[in-house]
Amino acid sequence: MADLFKDKAKVWDSGSIRVNGAKKIADEIRKEFKLHKQMQILDFGVGTGLLGFDIASSVGQVYGVDISAEMISKLQEKNTPELQIITYTQDIIKEPLKQVFDGVVSSMTLHHIEYSKDFFDTIYNNLKDGGFIAIADLQAEDGTFHSDNTGVFHFGFEKDALIKIAQESGFKNVAFKNINTIKKPQKDFGIFLLTAIK
Ligand SMILES: C[S@@+](CC[C@H](N)C(=O)[O-])C[C@H]1O[C@@H](n2cnc3c(N)ncnc32)[C@H](O)[C@@H]1O
Repeated sequence: MADLFKDKAKVWDSGSIRVNGAKKIADEIRKEFKLHKQMQILDFGVGTGLLGFDIASSVGQVYGVDISAEMISKLQEKNTPELQIITYTQDIIKEPLKQVFDGVVSSMTLHHIEYSKDFFDTIYNNLKDGGFIAIADLQAEDGTFHSDNTGVFHFGFEKDALIKIAQESGFKNVAFKNINTIKKPQKDFGIFLLTAIK
């Protein structure tokens, strides 16, 4: 399969909207869940680790999955002995991981996944009982967020529809809130954080 993030990987971390957006998501996750050093967390669609490294500073270990070898390669350049993410370059929806985690986080990846129900089923299976999920992505938009919609399966998400999918996968205490607004020249785009418990 073509690596749709091959070229983007080179400049990913130079985008201030992306860097600041990931920081905002990490801050909101910390407000929702008490992170601690015994936790093992999975970042789904970890990319270059913008969210994952932030979370890694508060937990025992972050693992990251991504289908882009180039994004993972950029992440690995940032690994240090003090702070590192263990990576899997793998589509865990199609090739499931056996490992289970205390929490699953994700930033701006869900709109790249064709079947949202498969995503929630997968992370449910990779979560310990009582574990949490914190999934951030775009609220419903008109298709103008990306300059090129190749690999974009959803123009954001509607609150009620997404909550229903998460509940159908078995999640409890599903909540959805607006946590950020990305201002682009053409318009403003809302970013949500969906949280839930297994
Ligand atoms: C918009 S980027 C976000 C990267 C990172 N989370 C961030 O916030 O900077 C979306 C990422 O999801 C990855 N991705 C797309 N489909 C995926 C899948 N099925 N499984 C894992 N990662 C996927 C892409 O390769 C890309 O790195």
